[in-house]
Amino acid sequence: MKFRTIGVLTSGGDAPGINPCIRAVVRSAIAQGVEVIGIQEGFDGLIRGEMSHLRVRDVSGIIHRGGTFLRTARCPEFLNPKGQRQALRELNEAGIDGLVVIGGDGSMKGTHVLAELGFPVVGAPASIDNDVWGTDMSLGVDTALNTIMHAVDKLRDTASSHQRAFLVETMGRGCGYLALIVGVICGAEIILIPEVEARLEQVSEAVEDAYARGKTHAIIIAAEGASLDVDEVAAHLNAHEVGFETRVTILGHVPRGGSPTAFDRMLATRMGVKAVEALLGGKTDVMVGLEGREIITIPLEEVIKSSRCPNMGFYEMALILAR
Ligand code: ADP
Ligand code: F6P
Repeated sequence: MKFRTIGVLTSGGDAPGINPCIRAVVRSAIAQGVEVIGIQEGFDGLIRGEMSHLRVRDVSGIIHRGGTFLRTARCPEFLNPKGQRQALRELNEAGIDGLVVIGGDGSMKGTHVLAELGFPVVGAPASIDNDVWGTDMSLGVDTALNTIMHAVDKLRDTASSHQRAFLVETMGRGCGYLALIVGVICGAEIILIPEVEARLEQVSEAVEDAYARGKTHAIIIAAEGASLDVDEVAAHLNAHEVGFETRVTILGHVPRGGSPTAFDRMLATRMGVKAVEALLGGKTDVMVGLEGREIITIPLEEVIKSSRCPNMGFYEMALILAR
């Protein structure tokens, strides 16, 4: 099939790296004589027909910016066949021959639906959670990790001055990846993640033990999806004689923003270029992903069947090293 025009949209939770990915999609398509239409606000904007042509200059000055200049949305309407058919109608009416969707695991499910309706699509994984199956890293993960790491480093300064324990909650939905990696690289006493059941007593023992070993502070990293709630843990620690007073910091959406790191900009650029290459080369119903050092394509059917799980070897490693 000869592609004259392709579309690009960003969907679901935003992540640093999406903007440089859009830039790579737009410029690599135009370099091959293909026009690009940018669709606003994900599947929602698609259903409403909110789109316009993107030219080379339209993606100037975004390579270093977090968020997505096309804006994003969660779109319940697209979960229904009626909304999906409306989206397809809009794509056809706009003369779009193929679509690149940049988003998380939910967005990849939506992308697969369009492929099943016969529309050529390629996905690119973007989610700070790093729960998308089929890629070692999604866009935004490295930036989010660095943001959380710097926040914990700062909290450690004040924790140490006041001899306190800090409970830091990270995002991640049902996946403990961010909390686990930050736990390792920030030397946490204990890491609370959805993949591991924990008891309140385990946390207080670990903190008390850190105090007894002469530590000046204790850091506990908790994923938002962990079985123990951070306020419940803090109340338990403050009610018991663990040595340190405890404070809670919930990072919330902070790691979702910010200028993408060098790693994320490079990954975004490579994924954007590969997505266009795959689409124009006749591939459809696939996602681009990072496997080792290579950018590969993987069938969306495989991607949406599973979720990527963090390497639990890192959990054991963190516990051993938190001496
Ligand atoms: P993310 O892509 O960041 O995981 P969501 O899970 O909210 O974010 O998904 C983004 C959008 O993708 C949803 O609002 C919906 O429009 C679409 N989507 C999610 N799951 C499905 C599904 N099973 N079928 C069709 N579309 C879906
Ligand atoms: O999937 C990305 C993510 O940031 C999750 O870590 C978090 O649970 C969720 O999105 C928050 O969603 P919202 O931006 O709709 O509050």
